[in-house]
Amino acid sequence: MTSTLPDLVPDAGAAAPGPQRREQTAAALRELRRYGEPGAPAISLPPDAFALPEIYELERERVFGRSWVLVAHADQLAQPGDYVSLTVAGELVLVARHTDGSLYGMSPICRHRMMPVVEAGAGNTTSFTCPYHLWRYGLDGKLVGATFMKGNPAFDPKNCRLPGFAVEQWHGFVFVNLDADAEPLAPHLARISADMTNYLLDEMVQVGSWVEEWGCNWKIAVENAHENYHVMGFHPETLQPSTPGGADPDVRADSSWATVLRVPFTEPVEPMVLPLNEEERQSLYGLFVFPTASLAAFGDQVIWLSFLPLAIDRTEVRGGILMPAALIEGADLDEVRRQSEGYAGMINAEDQRGLEAVQRAVGSRFAGRGHLSPKEPGVRVFYENLAHSLFR
Ligand code: FES
Ligand SMILES: [Fe+2]
Repeated sequence: MTSTLPDLVPDAGAAAPGPQRREQTAAALRELRRYGEPGAPAISLPPDAFALPEIYELERERVFGRSWVLVAHADQLAQPGDYVSLTVAGELVLVARHTDGSLYGMSPICRHRMMPVVEAGAGNTTSFTCPYHLWRYGLDGKLVGATFMKGNPAFDPKNCRLPGFAVEQWHGFVFVNLDADAEPLAPHLARISADMTNYLLDEMVQVGSWVEEWGCNWKIAVENAHENYHVMGFHPETLQPSTPGGADPDVRADSSWATVLRVPFTEPVEPMVLPLNEEERQSLYGLFVFPTASLAAFGDQVIWLSFLPLAIDRTEVRGGILMPAALIEGADLDEVRRQSEGYAGMINAEDQRGLEAVQRAVGSRFAGRGHLSPKEPGVRVFYENLAHSLFR
């Protein structure tokens, strides 16, 4: 069939998707839905899943609007008044430690005229004062003062508060769910908690941390974290000698939110402090909490990463490195920090460089889907969870 000239006219863009673009989006969604069905194909995501703004908008609403997202380690929120402020797929998120010891998650958008009451970052405070007209909110998000508002009888300061999010702390990892009524996360992680007993997660301290920006779609970063197959390509000198890309991983999906990946080491890693059993000495454990959290436990260390979308083609990578308190007792903590952040930074830079190159291809007319290797079963689980999350 020959195309008529109007058929070739491009659509106006995300603001006004034409019929072709709507069909393209519908086709991508049909393919994404298939990953949740029995006998789903072992092939990579359609390139449109990374490139279409309509898909990203759906993810913002259906995935990030109602999933548990790892935002920090509790050591970053140890003292009353400590807070972390960040963005999750376009939504501003604030988590603060109250003087009563509990954590509060909230949107930092002022209830007066929308000024964010705090900038992105971290710090310690007794309250959050909006920089615009100085309304003040407590660590729990409740309004504690509003200047020159007594003359407006319609305004009820007692019922004024920042919108709350659900927060959960799991063995020191702080998760936020924008859906304040979300089902709790902990039951999904019960089996993993039992598996991780010997890693003594509650006794670990964060010795280093980082916040980076990678120029790729969040799913490019997350699918990469779900497989060890790429280690021979991206990490030939750093990770390939200890956990080769050709090793056969075991994968276990505990629920649509929690996945475990075990990768055998070339040589057992002897812990100095942790009471690891034989299998733990011989394995790297990857733990994934859909959509963004990735934890790797090996020997005496745990590295966590969370891949938070900033835009369709940009991802904030937050993470940290944990060690048992007994291991670093008496050590020069600045030196431990320098070394651990240096090591993690080197690996992260290897992934970032590679994944940004992948991102440059997603909009190409020649980009396509590929068959997955038996060495990347975790990627299939991620796709399945993505389908579940989008279409539940
Ligand atoms: S916008 Fe916050 S006090 Fe006016
Ligand atoms: Fe990697």
